Amino acid sequence: MKSFAALLTAVVAVLPFVAADFVPAGSAAHFFSTQNTSLVFAPEFGASGASLVAALPGDGSSADITALFPKFGTGVPTQIVYGDWCISANGVVPQSSSQTLYIADCDSEDETQLWTINEAPATVSNADGNCITLGRAARGVPVTLGECTDVLLHLQTWDPKPISA
Ligand SMILES: *[C@@H]1O[C@H](CO)[C@@H](O)[C@H](O)[C@H]1NC(C)=O
Repeated sequence: MKSFAALLTAVVAVLPFVAADFVPAGSAAHFFSTQNTSLVFAPEFGASGASLVAALPGDGSSADITALFPKFGTGVPTQIVYGDWCISANGVVPQSSSQTLYIADCDSEDETQLWTINEAPATVSNADGNCITLGRAARGVPVTLGECTDVLLHLQTWDPKPISA
């Protein structure tokens, strides 16, 4: 069965993506970076508002700011929520000085707050073909909006782990 083994290897070789876990609607999740599985994307509140950064995951309690709720779950456009705040791409421009994603008051009419959590490849993308991107996997590094491309894919994969109640 040597040729079968070779075929399997070839099939695996053309599937470089990571498949994300399924997140049911309304369940909070930690979105782990596949670059460094200790890190998640999470809001960080500062003087000029809240931006999205790479952070260590919290304890999964209701006070855990790193536990984010995809309102409608995986595979469909959804807000990604903490409390009354949503991840926003409004005014965020890839490869510019305003590429950092931030947290805004949730507004269900605002399409820039809609993200699709994809299962394979495990990206979090928007309707403009942009993905949630982590340039350098270290704590506190800003999480940015980047064009979803094969070249950037390794910076754009996130493994959401639902938090069990
Ligand atoms: C992952 O990130 C954590 C937190 O910043 C850091 O302590 C650790 O060294 C990183 N691991 C790797 C493999 O870079």
